[in-house]
Amino acid sequence: MEVDKRITNLVIAGFSGTGKSLVAKEIARRLNWDFVDTDDEIVKQAGKPIAQIFRQEGEGEFRELERKTIRKACRQRQTVIAIGGGAIVDPQNYELLAKTGLIVCLEAKPETIYDRLFREAASSPETEVRPLLTVDNPLERIRQLKASRQPYYAKADWTIHTDGLSISEVAEEVIRASRLLRRHAPRNDKEKGRSNKKKAHNNKEKAQSSIDKDIACLIETATQIYPVFVGYDLLDKLGEKMKEAALSGRATIISDENVFSLYGSKVEGILKDADFAVNSFVLLPGEETKSMDSAIKIYDSLVEHRTERDDIIVALGGGMVGDLAGFVAATFLRGMPWIQVPTSLIAMVDASIGGKVGVNHPEGKNLIGAFYQPNFVLADVQTLTTLARRELTSGWAEVIKHGMILDKEFVQFLESNVSRLTKLEPELLTQAIAGSAAIKAKVVSQDEKEREGKRTILNYGHTVGHGLEAATRYKRFLHGEAVAIGMMGAAKLSQRLGLLPSGAVERQQALLQKFGLPTSLGAEAASRRRGRKRGNLKLSIAGVTRAMELDKKVKGKAIRWVLLDDIGKAVIRSDVHREDVVAVLQELVEL
Ligand SMILES: NC(=O)c1ccc[n+]([C@@H]2O[C@H](COP(=O)([O-])OP(=O)(O)OC[C@H]3O[C@@H](n4cnc5c(N)ncnc54)[C@H](O)[C@@H]3O)[C@@H](O)[C@H]2O)c1
Ligand SMILES: [Zn+2]
Repeated sequence: MEVDKRITNLVIAGFSGTGKSLVAKEIARRLNWDFVDTDDEIVKQAGKPIAQIFRQEGEGEFRELERKTIRKACRQRQTVIAIGGGAIVDPQNYELLAKTGLIVCLEAKPETIYDRLFREAASSPETEVRPLLTVDNPLERIRQLKASRQPYYAKADWTIHTDGLSISEVAEEVIRASRLLRRHAPRNDKEKGRSNKKKAHNNKEKAQSSIDKDIACLIETATQIYPVFVGYDLLDKLGEKMKEAALSGRATIISDENVFSLYGSKVEGILKDADFAVNSFVLLPGEETKSMDSAIKIYDSLVEHRTERDDIIVALGGGMVGDLAGFVAATFLRGMPWIQVPTSLIAMVDASIGGKVGVNHPEGKNLIGAFYQPNFVLADVQTLTTLARRELTSGWAEVIKHGMILDKEFVQFLESNVSRLTKLEPELLTQAIAGSAAIKAKVVSQDEKEREGKRTILNYGHTVGHGLEAATRYKRFLHGEAVAIGMMGAAKLSQRLGLLPSGAVERQQALLQKFGLPTSLGAEAASRRRGRKRGNLKLSIAGVTRAMELDKKVKGKAIRWVLLDDIGKAVIRSDVHREDVVAVLQELVEL
């Protein structure tokens, strides 16, 4: 395997127990590069273990040795450097490392770190027990120390979550990321516009500018690897990023009237400035538009404009536009390049991630479709400022769902930042959307075509949710509202089955409520009365269970329930009794 030669070194950072040293060694082996572990070097130099240096000479002396070792390592070329967990906190170290290499941070949950360190200590008793494990409550200590270092780890160019991955899988991912980060790096000619003075003053920025900071995650499928860009005010970079992805020719923007009236001319201008020929196809907003009829109208227009196979479709809008435009891109001329520019929260964290495209059939939603990945996804979170409040709230349900099924720390992040997130504070909003999109990306990368059942966990809250939507003919609930109630159903079922303590159920409820989502049918009905929302209010439990059993995910067998074993940990169960389901639905009605 070969990494782009312009990356001089690869730096592997992160907390102890994330596998830095082994991963770095494996990468060096694969790339035929040199390998340095700064902690090992220090031990060699000092002739004693690190814990002893700490005890006898103090931390200050250790940090000085560490600085020297890092300086030396940075003078090398084509070297994979594993650094100590606290090294990056030192600004001098950080600056030097950032200048000479790509910094990849390995992440792991505190529980994983604890397990790994504990196992390591148990398997090699001759090594001194790590200071972290000798305190009263090691897990808590790991949590605290990790939290205090998080802002420094966040400065890395790339982060890889290592939980559940083998050393060779992590190594593979670092190598892939380093190639991709370079592929999407701005070209040198982009620097031309800057004054030399500024350039000279800003060496660090120059080193950093070779890496695309807008990438939130990569989606990796059998056929393609592509980035998801997330950022505030990112639309401006759309043309530039399309050129970097080697696209050229005619771009057809597909959008709906709501979104196009807000962003259409801006996007047209951006694409024209980047030398694309541009035309736009604007549809009526609403789910009814996601139809074969609309696809045919778009085909007609593409034919009329003599669209060619290398031209590009740009889907600008919510999930409705994304699904429809993607379906057209997948089928016109047997497939053309396409870009997802999601503008609703649901589209940013869910619909645009994973390559499922399609249209509705009068007999059922999403019955006609394909798996067809875009060249990239670009989410400008600023566009959410114009999204209707109810749509936005509905989208938070999917964000919370992603945390609940896979990432407890992400749930904690949401819990701590509710008010800033609901106020759409740029930095936090970007972080939340990037985090949520990354969770979905991770799942779909493992199971692109939904064959291996790994994607099933994304259906958390959706069994009851779909039942509620179908039983009310998709008129009463927005999708996320039904999913929020569905998540409460699934959590309560988990509790009934002895999987989840009541505290966790309440925690999920509190979080959903703080984001303004309904958590029971009673509460939802009361809020409808207050808001004077119209629609079919009648809902019978029998109607919901019937709709659930007809749902396409059932495959004629027992329903595969996605339940929780813990916050951040989904499990799939097919042995749930109908009585339990009915009892939980009853509870949701009465609350
Ligand atoms: N492909 C997938 O994996 C996947 C996953 C989830 C959902 N979906 C699909 O996504 C669709 C739902 O997505 P949605 O909720 O985005 O619906 P949507 O596209 O209909 O958008 C909702 C409303 O918001 C408006 N809107 C969107 N962005 C806006 C903005 N920035 N400012 C102002 N208004 C804006 C739209 O015009 C529309 O009226 C459904 O068709 C669903 O099947 C697909
Ligand atoms: Zn959903």
